Amino acid sequence: MMFRDNLLKDRTIIITGGSTGLGHAMAEKFGLLGAKLAIVSRNEENLKAAEKKLRKIGIECEHSVCNIRDFEQISRSINEVVSSFGSFNVLINNAAGNFVSPSENLTAKGIDAIVDTVLKGTIYFSTQAGKYWIENHIKASILSIAATYSWTGSGYVMPSAAAKAGVLAMTRSLAAEWGPKGIKSVAIAPGPFPTKGAWDRLVVDSRYEDMLKKRNPLGRFGNLDEISDLAAYLISPGADYINGEVVTIDGGEWLNAGGEFNILGNLSPEEMAVFNRRVK
Ligand code: HXC
Repeated sequence: MMFRDNLLKDRTIIITGGSTGLGHAMAEKFGLLGAKLAIVSRNEENLKAAEKKLRKIGIECEHSVCNIRDFEQISRSINEVVSSFGSFNVLINNAAGNFVSPSENLTAKGIDAIVDTVLKGTIYFSTQAGKYWIENHIKASILSIAATYSWTGSGYVMPSAAAKAGVLAMTRSLAAEWGPKGIKSVAIAPGPFPTKGAWDRLVVDSRYEDMLKKRNPLGRFGNLDEISDLAAYLISPGADYINGEVVTIDGGEWLNAGGEFNILGNLSPEEMAVFNRRVK
């Protein structure tokens, strides 16, 4: 543990998509630091399994079944959390959906599945949480999971990139609008962190996995502990003054993909020798 015990003891946290992958890793980290947790997702079976695991290690955790594409279900979910814990003061917008497809092949249903989850679900949840906090004068934080392609865009996952760009715009908009009301809003832009949900859909085979690893300046993927530590810091009292910021955690991947000459890193020393001359 890189943090002091009970760092998050005053935090009651809703985590969307909190039963699997990155959401579950963050839930465990926050819980071990003393937070109370409400994990939210569509799948009750996954929620119950995750809740059981978290309780087993002494974490106070409840679950709520909710499809974040549905405004009414979110409202019900927030009420459930408030009646279990009395209140809550952190929202983690983690739930997402994505698949790889050439943009020209996308159907209306496919586009909706991504945009309704990633963008609208995040906005739905944040606005309803904010309404509750403002009405009850509660100091609170929103942490949203964006992506480095929030600002670069990315082919083949275009609806996700467009939606994640919106998540970033929401983060900055709410930081300015709700800061005066005691609500801060921040985001994390992760690079590749292996989770079953993302890997099954987006990485698929070992050839592409190798390519991804090679183009990362640090030559590896992130581990879930690293991103969970960052998330814990961003919602901790020590980070109260960080508002409207997006923190990238990707080993330098997106910069490497963008820098004009970074591709030279793929050359052998012999191939590189051609550049080692002075032109008069
Ligand atoms: C083409 C597809 C498709 C695929 C779904 N669709 N999968 N099209 N290729 N592989 C389209 C079809 O048009 C389908 O309509 C429509 O999407 C809805 O699909 P359903 O499976 O019926 O919907 P649903 O159950 O809502 O599923 C949503 C989902 C799914 C997003 C499509 O993948 C999901 O639930 N994902 C959640 C977990 C996840 O995606 N994790 C990865 C997040 S990683 P038809 O008419 O054909 O049924 C991430 C960040 C990446 O977001 C950053 C990395 C660096």
